[in-house]
Amino acid sequence: MVFAKIVETEKELQDAFFVREEVFVKEQGIPRPLEKDEYDDIATHFVAYFDHRPIAAGRVRFKDLTAIVDRVCVIPPFRRKQIGVLMMQSLEQYIQGSNIKKVKLNAQTHAIPFYEKQNYCITSPEFLDAGVPYRAMEKVL
Ligand SMILES: CC(C)(COP(=O)(O)OP(=O)(O)OC[C@H]1O[C@@H](n2cnc3c(N)ncnc32)[C@H](O)[C@@H]1OP(=O)(O)O)[C@@H](O)C(=O)NCCC(=O)NCCS
Repeated sequence: MVFAKIVETEKELQDAFFVREEVFVKEQGIPRPLEKDEYDDIATHFVAYFDHRPIAAGRVRFKDLTAIVDRVCVIPPFRRKQIGVLMMQSLEQYIQGSNIKKVKLNAQTHAIPFYEKQNYCITSPEFLDAGVPYRAMEKVL
């Protein structure tokens, strides 16, 4: 059974970092010093498990009355099984517990259909970050 949860322990944090390392550093080739950043210290992290195995991650932070979601990822064998949706639902449920209604994210262009299916709208032209093409997207909860 798959479940997603807010990170509450150091072990869970390391599990979230493990998934991010597998996806962003090893699979996508994003340099580790860019993948791990200063926002890790202030963000609220999420992790998903299948049989005690960490398989998905994501994080959220708040800035200027906006929630910023990033580092959403699912390890390859578990993709296209609605686990990305489960992560986004967990993050959004957490955001809804605050007074913040607007959610912003930068979507890698290949992931735009994934976010559009969850009612995120494109708000910027394409731009590059660490060589990866992105477009800004947002949604009002
Ligand atoms: C993007 C990512 C998180 C999606 O996770 P996932 O678990 O595979 O997605 P889901 O199974 O929850 O997909 C939900 C819907 O989006 C669609 N979808 C997911 N990824 C898609 C893609 N790359 N292109 C088109 N549609 C996509 C699914 O087909 C599904 O549609 P449906 O509800 O009509 O069946 C995952 O592919 C991933 O980790 N990619 C690498 C890391 C990454 O790029 N993260 C995004 C950074 S902005």
